[in-house]
Amino acid sequence: MIPQSFIEELKMNCDIESVVSSYVQLRKRGRISTGLCPFHSEKTGSFTVYPESQSFYCFGCGAGGDVIGFIRRIENLEYVEAIKFLAQRAGMNVPEDAAEDKTALLKTKILEMNREAARFYFSELTKPSGKAALDYLLGRGLEPKTIKHFGLGYAPNEWTSLTDLLASKGYRYEDMEAAQLSRKSNKSGRYYDVFRDRVMFPIIDLRGNVIGFGGRKMSGDGPKYYNSPDTPVFKKTKNLFALNFAKKQKLERLILCEGYMDVIAMHQAGFTEAVASLGTSLTSDQCRLASSYVEEAVLAYDSDEAGQKATKRAISLLDEVGIRSKVLSIPDAKDPDEYIKKFGGTRFKKLIEQSAGSTEYELSKISAKYDVATPEGKISALKDAVNLLAGMKNPLEREVWAAKLARDYGTTKEGILSQVQTKIKRRARAEGARAISGQSAQTTTFGGAVPEKLRNPASAAAEERLLGALMRSPEALSTVSTVVSPNDFVCELYGRFYEKLLSTLSTGTEVSLTLFGEDFTLEQQGIIAKLTNLAREHRYSAEDAAEAAKNILRLKEKKTDKEIGELSGDELAAYIERMRKAKK
Ligand code: UTP
Ligand code: MN
Repeated sequence: MIPQSFIEELKMNCDIESVVSSYVQLRKRGRISTGLCPFHSEKTGSFTVYPESQSFYCFGCGAGGDVIGFIRRIENLEYVEAIKFLAQRAGMNVPEDAAEDKTALLKTKILEMNREAARFYFSELTKPSGKAALDYLLGRGLEPKTIKHFGLGYAPNEWTSLTDLLASKGYRYEDMEAAQLSRKSNKSGRYYDVFRDRVMFPIIDLRGNVIGFGGRKMSGDGPKYYNSPDTPVFKKTKNLFALNFAKKQKLERLILCEGYMDVIAMHQAGFTEAVASLGTSLTSDQCRLASSYVEEAVLAYDSDEAGQKATKRAISLLDEVGIRSKVLSIPDAKDPDEYIKKFGGTRFKKLIEQSAGSTEYELSKISAKYDVATPEGKISALKDAVNLLAGMKNPLEREVWAAKLARDYGTTKEGILSQVQTKIKRRARAEGARAISGQSAQTTTFGGAVPEKLRNPASAAAEERLLGALMRSPEALSTVSTVVSPNDFVCELYGRFYEKLLSTLSTGTEVSLTLFGEDFTLEQQGIIAKLTNLAREHRYSAEDAAEAAKNILRLKEKKTDKEIGELSGDELAAYIERMRKAKK
């Protein structure tokens, strides 16, 4: 390890502005400097250097960090190498011994050991002692080809077979323990295998590394599956099982399920877009990972109560990253694996095609939950439905569903909507209270700066998207300016941001955050910075700007209740879909 004190001294001697300016032509703008980002191609200077905090940030691609981070990126160096590089530049000597990056070495070792282990487990299947495991897998309907494809295996019913093998290949016991393959006995002080007498499922990352294992018992009590705990190369919550295979095709959607066997059975039946979270419930990191591949997920969770709960959770987590959910109901079987085994892939395909959109699914659950033939049942169901609608961000979507509910339950749409409004207000108040007490996570309500947002969430969202997209793709400005004018904006502040952006068209100034430095308060500048960063996260493009502009206009005209009531089922579905798109 290089002592922190040395790193501090190094940073003192390597002023970020002077280091950066050997790579980027910087222009001084008050207290900051900007230039063309060296990490992505751009025509406007989104790359900003902050001498005060000795940091840099690119508003175009999101690259950011300190001087060491800059050198790592631009010279493509590891941390320690970057330090050495800078030390040389500053004429300083790196204190010896620390030269090597220990964790990087350990990671490489762990990956090697995992690969050895996977090979070992796989080969055990072909031995007499592994016959029961092989029979187990075949008995579950897996073809030899599938077993090979997924690299399944067997951890023998012995205490030290893998540990001995790894030791014979020169690996150290402490490293085996770090890989979570071996563990030290408190009694004897010897190391023993973590996985014993289990069918093994290797977990492979997107680069093809074996990063961990799931092991299933074939009989006996105790937990059915044991998964590798986190190691320096494995973070359970950040990986999806089989995404390495799924991403090999052009993906339109992912099928999300609960178990290893579900994924494997689906892949074998041709549904190679199936993935699973690993022995945990779905996490937001996994959703983000999925969102770089798809915009739609089919949820194929177990048909039991736990699975249905997990489905609900998944819908809202996926929604947060912009993934639409469809929900598969699996009749007469516990999970996809069992269904496919019972009824075959063709029928499973039908199920997938029929999988309902999430709102429809939620509403059907609600009406199934109560006896809606009775007034009491109806009221309870409507209460739940109102709750559901209050969670929808797009007011038009709420109207559409309220109209449908009114028809289904023989009540009025206005009545439902007014309940929904009450609910929304109550929630907003609760949220406001949370924000004041400092607990609110990362909502973009922007406090009092954008008061219109509360009543017009859909318009505000479109305006935010337009602004963010324009910050990223200013080339869209001239087109968009012919479509939308600042007067079309519902949120006053956003209208002013837009106006400022338009001014660059006539004055020829470049679009960057510095543009908002003069006429806007620090808080307002923070808002436009945040919109810019959100746009980066969502990878908004010029196309998104054009679409958002259209949506701003479209949201100004909306269908009347009567018109909605007169739509046919298909038209209604199409209308909802359009509104959904407008929301996205
Ligand atoms: P399930 O209990 O639904 O099992 O667990 P399954 O996938 O249908 O397994 P089979 O078909 O009996 O082989 C779903 C997932 O939850 C995790 C595993 O990832 C499993 O695939 N799990 C389950 C555990 O991590 N530990 C357990 O003890 C059980
Ligand atoms: Mn199962």
